[in-house]
Amino acid sequence: MKTFVRTTVFAAGIFLAARLGAQPALKQAFQNDFLVGAALNPSQFCESNEMEAALIKQQFNTISPENVLKWALVHPEPGRYDFALADRYVAFGEKNHMAVIGHTLVWHNQTPDWVFQDNQGKPVSREVLLQRMRDHIMTVVGRYKGRIKGWDVVNEALAEDGTLRPSPWRKIIGEDFLLKAYQFAHEADPQAELYYNEYSLENKPKRSGAVALIQQLQAQGVKIAAVGLQSHVRMDWPTRRQEEATISAFANLGVKVNITELDVDVLPSAGNDVGAEVTSNFKRSEKLNPYAGGLPAAMQQQLSDRYAELFSIFVKHRQDIGRVTFWGVTDGDSWLNDWPVHGRTSYPLLFDRAGKPKPAFDQVIKTAGS
Ligand code: GLA
Repeated sequence: MKTFVRTTVFAAGIFLAARLGAQPALKQAFQNDFLVGAALNPSQFCESNEMEAALIKQQFNTISPENVLKWALVHPEPGRYDFALADRYVAFGEKNHMAVIGHTLVWHNQTPDWVFQDNQGKPVSREVLLQRMRDHIMTVVGRYKGRIKGWDVVNEALAEDGTLRPSPWRKIIGEDFLLKAYQFAHEADPQAELYYNEYSLENKPKRSGAVALIQQLQAQGVKIAAVGLQSHVRMDWPTRRQEEATISAFANLGVKVNITELDVDVLPSAGNDVGAEVTSNFKRSEKLNPYAGGLPAAMQQQLSDRYAELFSIFVKHRQDIGRVTFWGVTDGDSWLNDWPVHGRTSYPLLFDRAGKPKPAFDQVIKTAGS
């Protein structure tokens, strides 16, 4: 019965959209399933790119900041915070009644070296680093208290084998750097949702490590609202089985799963670039950039099928999924044009370089209400 009502309401909405000649919107299509969002850059949330700003307002009900809330941008020097762009980002989301996400507080990348060093360039003590972490979290989270719905408190703490990676946070503070980060974030805004965000959790060893990590934090009294699966995926990875096993593994811990950085890479692999290690960099070649002149119809179809597969899984598990956020809006602004090879032409998202919906968009819309 519920499914019948859902399907009927959904079909009526699509019919109305078609009659009015309007493009259906992702946020409406999935309104009974989960929020749908995108990571934004300043030209979008400052609305200098009017076309993309309009597209974002039409399509999405949650936003993430691609860069402006990362440590290097918001807190570039000791004692100096720069909130100019972050304020614009939050204001854009509020003005458009979107769920505004904070990304990210404690990460080993895009964090200035000074954070971990003293005046002589030597590693600081545990006490000093904890003090810096607390000051950063209290200042940044505190500024947007009650306005940012939830925070990626820690990003990418794990190595591929599921152990903690030897980041400066881990090495200087010790294993409890995560516990401290979550405690500070909770202190700064007790109402904000706290997330753990990570890539490649679809692979079993890393997933097991994350499950143990979340269980440990829960045992220490931390309320993790959701685990973020970054979901920088490929055509053949992860498999349906891996994806479903991953969603279930975290749902079983009583936390939601958020799809936080979704994009589908159709370009040939340049080597060991599974996952999202942002420091990877390979040399460009024609072989590695085969679709510079456009995506052939057969590949377009495969991409649509892949997107339909992913969204059918998300819809099936909608009771466990809080949101699905794309990492970018159009193919033109995706980081995958420059990672892990600089200057390629990539096609990872649902809107083409002109902001027009791709065949994959229609396929995705069809999975709603299924
Ligand atoms: C990781 C980070 C994001 C972003 C992407 C690449 O997934 O979480 O903030 O840097 O890499 O753009």
